[in-house]
Amino acid sequence: MSSQNNTSVIILAAGQGTRMKSMLPKVLHSVAGRPMLGYAMLQAREIASKNVAVVIGHGADHVRAYLEEEQAQFNPVLVVEQTQQLGTGHAVQLAYPALVRDSSSVASQYVIMCGDTPLLTTKTVSTLVNYHQSEGATLTLLTTILPDPSGYGRVIRGKVGTVCRVVEDRDASPEEKQVSEINVGTYVVEAKFLEKALGQLHPQNAQGEYYLTDIIEMAVQEEKKVVAWVTKDSLETTGVNTRVHLALAEKEMRRRICDRLMLDGVTILDPEHVVVDHQVTVGRDTVLHPGVVLEGQTQVGEQCTIRANSRIANSIVHRGVTIQDTCVLQDSTVEEEAVIGPMAHLRPGTVIHRKAKIGNFVELKKTEVGEGSKVNHLSYLGDTCIGENVNVGAGTITCNYDGYRKAKTIIEDNVFIGSDVQLIAPVTIGAGAIIAAGTTVTENVPADALGISRVSQINKEGTASRRRALLDPSVLPSNGKSGKAEEQPSITPVLQKQEESPK
Ligand code: UD1
Ligand code: CA
Repeated sequence: MSSQNNTSVIILAAGQGTRMKSMLPKVLHSVAGRPMLGYAMLQAREIASKNVAVVIGHGADHVRAYLEEEQAQFNPVLVVEQTQQLGTGHAVQLAYPALVRDSSSVASQYVIMCGDTPLLTTKTVSTLVNYHQSEGATLTLLTTILPDPSGYGRVIRGKVGTVCRVVEDRDASPEEKQVSEINVGTYVVEAKFLEKALGQLHPQNAQGEYYLTDIIEMAVQEEKKVVAWVTKDSLETTGVNTRVHLALAEKEMRRRICDRLMLDGVTILDPEHVVVDHQVTVGRDTVLHPGVVLEGQTQVGEQCTIRANSRIANSIVHRGVTIQDTCVLQDSTVEEEAVIGPMAHLRPGTVIHRKAKIGNFVELKKTEVGEGSKVNHLSYLGDTCIGENVNVGAGTITCNYDGYRKAKTIIEDNVFIGSDVQLIAPVTIGAGAIIAAGTTVTENVPADALGISRVSQINKEGTASRRRALLDPSVLPSNGKSGKAEEQPSITPVLQKQEESPK
């Protein structure tokens, strides 16, 4: 944008956020999966043609670490540390000279914004900058009208409606508190004036702070042009000071994300109860049922169905996949037309290939399931590599941990594993092998072999009925003499043994 080609941006993010009552610095609290500061950074990068400064202070190490992570994807920003948070004016007093020193060419105007207004859109900030330019103003502030303006700085206008100053809630007279036009905390200021005004700030107010807002009155007194752009979208201007505001911002951001997805062709049955993080992508004709949560770097392809209450985090789900109800997927990949769940847990490092099926109460960790293979019921498989067209029977468990180390299980193509099998890793089942139900596999099974390890079965004829006669009072003779029971045949040692063993 040519009108904005000489703009630097200052983001204020040093405040403690006392009202959040949190260990975490306020600007690192997330909205739709992105720290609030990240939204300010996005806008700043769009608006600025010159460099961007971020003033950090409270929890500086945390905030710096976040910025470093964030900057890895973008141009670096100038980080300025405000060790004592003496007010918004003080923060700019530190940032301005740092930017001037840092710049190869100095900006002629500065956009100053807060790190705690995540709902503000680039469109609104651009409009503010354009308005500033078209008015030829020295200072332009963003304002809005709120039904409940309490907590915000009020915009005091003169008789002809021109902006005179901003008074903070704590410093406002009862009359001034009635004013419903509030200062959003986003400004465009000419460089020359800003430099001069910053040198003249005094902390004479209820909080003993250097208020940036004082530069407004200074400009008016110097007969500079001060204008306000009043935005109608007051929700956008929400400053997050408490967790109540945070929830409001979260709800609105989620709504925007769901709207965007729906307009792009995703069906969302109940958008109020679907939670999608800002980076997530979802393909056309995918259906999201109520309670679905898509987090982090998740990508969902086209024509998928994600049923109720499933959570997918940092995972890739390809086209045509069905995720049944109440599944959890973390750092996993699911290829085309696979079916997962209900109630399956895919833990990090799991890859499900095309058309494979993962059923009820199955937990997979670092496990690859080949094309068309099935793990349908009640299994735990960890550190396992399964080939194509394998059937893993109900209740199969890999014993991948010996208390010290994790070991791998390899199951090659076309293997059939019966129910209730334990595979003691490391172990390999060769292609086409069959593992009999109930087997505990401790050694490798060659291709096309039958692996079986169970005690052979014995059937003892008549033992069941003899036992009933002995133990069940309803089958005892009604007028039988005492001692009759002694004539009953005694039950077999095998059965006695079973009865003794604890349940
Ligand atoms: C500020 C404005 C108020 C406006 C409101 C909008 C002032 C004096 N008041 O009040 O008119 O209505 O924002 O939300 O500017 N910060 C620093 N260093 C500091 C103090 C604050 O970097 O020493 C940062 C904070 O991290 C925050 C921003 O500045 O991102 C605003 O600070 P905050 O304490 O929330 O100001 P408000 O009282 O909300
Ligand atoms: Ca604030």
